[in-house]
Amino acid sequence: MSTAHSGLNSRGVALASILLALLLILFVVATVYVFAARLYLPPPPISHDAALVDHQYNLTLYATGAAFILAQLGLAYAILRFRDRGQQARFTRGNVALEILWTSITFLVFVGLGIIGRRAWADVRFAPSASGAIEVEATTNQFVYTFRYPGPDGKFGRLDPSLINAPAGNPLGVDPHDPAGQDDIVVAELTVPVNQPIEVLLRSQDVIHNFFVRELRLQQDAVPGIRIPVHFTANRIGTYEIVCTQLCGLGHYKMHSLLHVVSEVDYQSFLKRQAMSP
Ligand code: CUA
Repeated sequence: MSTAHSGLNSRGVALASILLALLLILFVVATVYVFAARLYLPPPPISHDAALVDHQYNLTLYATGAAFILAQLGLAYAILRFRDRGQQARFTRGNVALEILWTSITFLVFVGLGIIGRRAWADVRFAPSASGAIEVEATTNQFVYTFRYPGPDGKFGRLDPSLINAPAGNPLGVDPHDPAGQDDIVVAELTVPVNQPIEVLLRSQDVIHNFFVRELRLQQDAVPGIRIPVHFTANRIGTYEIVCTQLCGLGHYKMHSLLHVVSEVDYQSFLKRQAMSP
């Protein structure tokens, strides 16, 4: 056993631990650089809620970033400090006080971030939208989105699944005998006026799909059998992509639509144009 810790071997162990510690430090610096240099920025947010999500994302990033840096540098320190110098290894069962301390800190940070982030997430889904919100129904199926506006009467017509016939121009199965449905507008792309609350009623005709607009930081599953409301108020005119982020079948990769955020005037002319088209 005495030869196991010859001078040569100790130097070898020292070199290996120094290299490993350096590698860890390099890894930390490279990771921090990728985030600090803002190499991969999301598109600018186009709603107040989206800005809240960004704020929450940054808070989470700072908290987890600090934990990541401290943990990795701590590991590098331990590798150097406790490398094999031929000393007797000391057995430890851990430190209960330290265990309680860092578990409590993790718990507090985790719950704290959840409470702070409640507004950014839950208010979009669980709180009712502002009164006077424009209701639009969004229906997903393999592999398209179909949007329905209630029309001038403000009422959606009855849907009958047995009447669903996309080739005949009735992809939703709107009942032609229901007077409320006769003025319903059914389109493939979503057009909304800027700075007005929009209530999207999300449905699915077949499997689970998703409604995701990056610029709104809004992502919600569409689940067959239930109608899920989500709301947003877009504050920047433009055209944005709506994508499906649930693996919903072979055509999933191409399942997308567009969100047109337009001025109030353009929105009214859109409604008029649609009301005139058969
Ligand atoms: Cu629908 Cu993926």
